[in-house]
Amino acid sequence: MSIAQKIKISMSQSSLIRKMFEEGAILKNKYGAHKVYDFSLGNPNVEPPELFKRELLNLAGQIIPNKHGYTHNAGYPETRQMIAEKINKTHGLKLKGDQVIMSCGAGGALNVIFKSLLDPLDEVIVPKPYFVEYPFYIDNYGGVTRYVQTNNDFSLNIEAIFAAITEKTKAVLINSPNNPTGKVYSEKNIADLSSMLTDKTNKMKKAIYLVSDDPYSEIVYDNIEVPSALSAYKHSIIASSYSKTLSLPGERIGYIAINPEIEEADELINALILCTRILGFVNAPALMQRVVAKLQNAKVNVEIYQKKRDLLCSGLEQAGYQFEKPMGAFYLFPKSPLPDDMGFVKILLKRNILVVPGSGFGGPGYFRIAFCVDDETIINSLDGFAEAIKECS
Ligand SMILES: Cc1ncc(COP(=O)(O)O)c(C=O)c1O
Repeated sequence: MSIAQKIKISMSQSSLIRKMFEEGAILKNKYGAHKVYDFSLGNPNVEPPELFKRELLNLAGQIIPNKHGYTHNAGYPETRQMIAEKINKTHGLKLKGDQVIMSCGAGGALNVIFKSLLDPLDEVIVPKPYFVEYPFYIDNYGGVTRYVQTNNDFSLNIEAIFAAITEKTKAVLINSPNNPTGKVYSEKNIADLSSMLTDKTNKMKKAIYLVSDDPYSEIVYDNIEVPSALSAYKHSIIASSYSKTLSLPGERIGYIAINPEIEEADELINALILCTRILGFVNAPALMQRVVAKLQNAKVNVEIYQKKRDLLCSGLEQAGYQFEKPMGAFYLFPKSPLPDDMGFVKILLKRNILVVPGSGFGGPGYFRIAFCVDDETIINSLDGFAEAIKECS
């Protein structure tokens, strides 16, 4: 087969989640789907808000000239304006509509951002553990991922980020609420990062961008607020989407927004628009752009996820697992009772429980449970989790 060498390597590197997925399919065939507790994928299982369905039906029935035609590569001006207004309210900024670019999800947004910023061998600093696709996105444009450890509570280790900065550093990529840890970085943590980067940027006389991947920004628990990276740091860019907030991952709709103070903001915007076009996205899905414009104040029922988090956390705590309680997103990242997280995942697999080893996220010694599943799956899996940890003691 004439598959590119680089892709062959990437295929073998990205095999952990795929492997769990394949194992799951085999188990489901053998035992039936309800006897398999599949926590491997972050596919939201809470329905989109009612308003989404109403707006979509409404739009489907309307006659609008060129409704299904190409949109401007940056997206519809009305949608960009609505999003800018929402960002201004939540982040306390003065963004204009043309500082927002519509994208094909947060994944599409990150690819457009890195295509716009990276020259070959430019470095992007990524705190561990991280979302599995980041290194691939960075590598797509010849960039190099520089991993740094987070603190024990998964907060950003500012000294480690500082120490990783070189002449080649183009960006720091953060994600809060975090996949896989559920961590939300505190205001102080973000402020410390911002002041360190401002210092470095001034000394090096070149911008280090802070790219904040925000698809879970509205999936937070216990009424906490997510501190804004966009307003904390001048050279910041957010990649966001409605995949989780509105449960629309298959619709591929999201956006990029930049801090209006960024130097050469217009040039950056033009680069982002060009990259949206030439990466083959052309534009974000037209119908979805119109729908999300109307849903700026809507989100999925987060209480449903909070209940799942609480069910899972209290069950696992009783069984003796150690973890940081997730503050947002829908992932729990407990310590593996065995140092070998792959080995422990196999012990869970014997009880038809599918989770992903932390090694796949750059977090060996941990494992990830995606709790965006039915309550029954959580409840019925708890005995298996308890037996698995006993087997290791
Ligand atoms: C941290 C993180 N970033 C980006 C994405 C991609 O999101 P989207 O579906 O909006 O492209 C995901 C999806 O799970 C994610 O967890």
